[in-house]
Amino acid sequence: MADMIIATKNYDIVCGKEWSRKLNALLQKKKFSSFFILCDENTFRLCLPQLITQCAGLSKAEIIEIEPGEGSKGVEVAVNIWQTLSENEADRHSLLINLGGGVVTDLGGFCASVYKRGISFVNIPTTLLAMADASVGSKTGVDFAGIKNLLGTFKSPEGVFINPEFLETLPLRHHKNGLAEIFKIALVSDKRFWASLQRSNGKHVRQVIIEHSIILKKKIVQKDPLDQGPRKVLNFGHSIGHAIESAAMDTGSDLLHGEAVLIGIVVEAHIAFQKKLITKKTLQEIIETLRPLMEGIDIPAIDTITLIELIRNDKKAADGKLFFALINGIGSCKPQVEVTPKQITSAIEFYKSFAA
Ligand SMILES: NC(=O)c1ccc[n+]([C@@H]2O[C@H](COP(=O)([O-])OP(=O)(O)OC[C@H]3O[C@@H](n4cnc5c(N)ncnc54)[C@H](O)[C@@H]3O)[C@@H](O)[C@H]2O)c1
Repeated sequence: MADMIIATKNYDIVCGKEWSRKLNALLQKKKFSSFFILCDENTFRLCLPQLITQCAGLSKAEIIEIEPGEGSKGVEVAVNIWQTLSENEADRHSLLINLGGGVVTDLGGFCASVYKRGISFVNIPTTLLAMADASVGSKTGVDFAGIKNLLGTFKSPEGVFINPEFLETLPLRHHKNGLAEIFKIALVSDKRFWASLQRSNGKHVRQVIIEHSIILKKKIVQKDPLDQGPRKVLNFGHSIGHAIESAAMDTGSDLLHGEAVLIGIVVEAHIAFQKKLITKKTLQEIIETLRPLMEGIDIPAIDTITLIELIRNDKKAADGKLFFALINGIGSCKPQVEVTPKQITSAIEFYKSFAA
């Protein structure tokens, strides 16, 4: 499979076998003063050895290892990372390399973006979700006060280097988790891509699917880099999804981001149906397509009042009114549609009956 370089406004995303050659070229060109590699326990074991073998210049890098999972994407872990950077005299010319899933790339990007008013970082995503979705858009962040991504910055990496071989060790559950965001990008922006994903049943995630998702997201992000208008279409499934994820964090459930988004897509598709933006047939098609990905998801008990409160606290609530991005057909989405608590409640009731 040929390599692809997707140029965004501020950095390139290299996808394929050339990833390490391009990374080595960047390391040589930029003359960084020191290297730090952030990874979690799994990527330390499964991905770091290949990175060091292929980029010998990183053999002396200081390794910062964190525990895997969303629980690490918080200020306490960020403080430990800043501590390590400081103790090891990271300066403004140091480079932080984030080797891992979306937790590592969001957290590492956030830490780099504020340390000494911002040091350089690169992302080497190792999950499907981080490759196909989190690699674009320059959002960094950590969860705070029980709310997803409450603290964060917009800061671009020096580059993103995708080695699809890393996916060989990714557990099936995390594979499905990444597919959730890929199906979402198709739903909001590309009917033909949605149809091709339906045909492949999401079974073979090839490099081309990752690349196509990146290109679609890039197009949307370019129109609205700071997420003030058109980019909000990417939030389809996320108003409900984030609230469910926040509620799950509170109860100690291990629900994954993509799993919460899948639930969010179904609930929000039902709201779109109530608002006559999509037909019943389209709603059914979405449900039937996503059903295989949803099998086995351990759905947390959803208290609707708490959920609506969480949505209000989320950044998507304006003037007490609730606005969601809602699809108005497969491959098309309206960024700001007002929804009422009643519509949310009936959509959740619908979801509960379908999931039972
Ligand atoms: N910045 C963005 O634009 C953006 C977009 C979407 C999601 N996100 C964020 O991404 C996070 C979720 O990311 P995620 O799903 O990648 O979670 P994650 O980083 O927790 O990774 C999932 C699991 O896979 C393991 N893992 C990683 N690479 C592996 C590999 N190659 N082989 C085996 N195991 C591997 C990890 O250790 C972890 O246990 C959420 O916090 C979400 O908010 C950010």
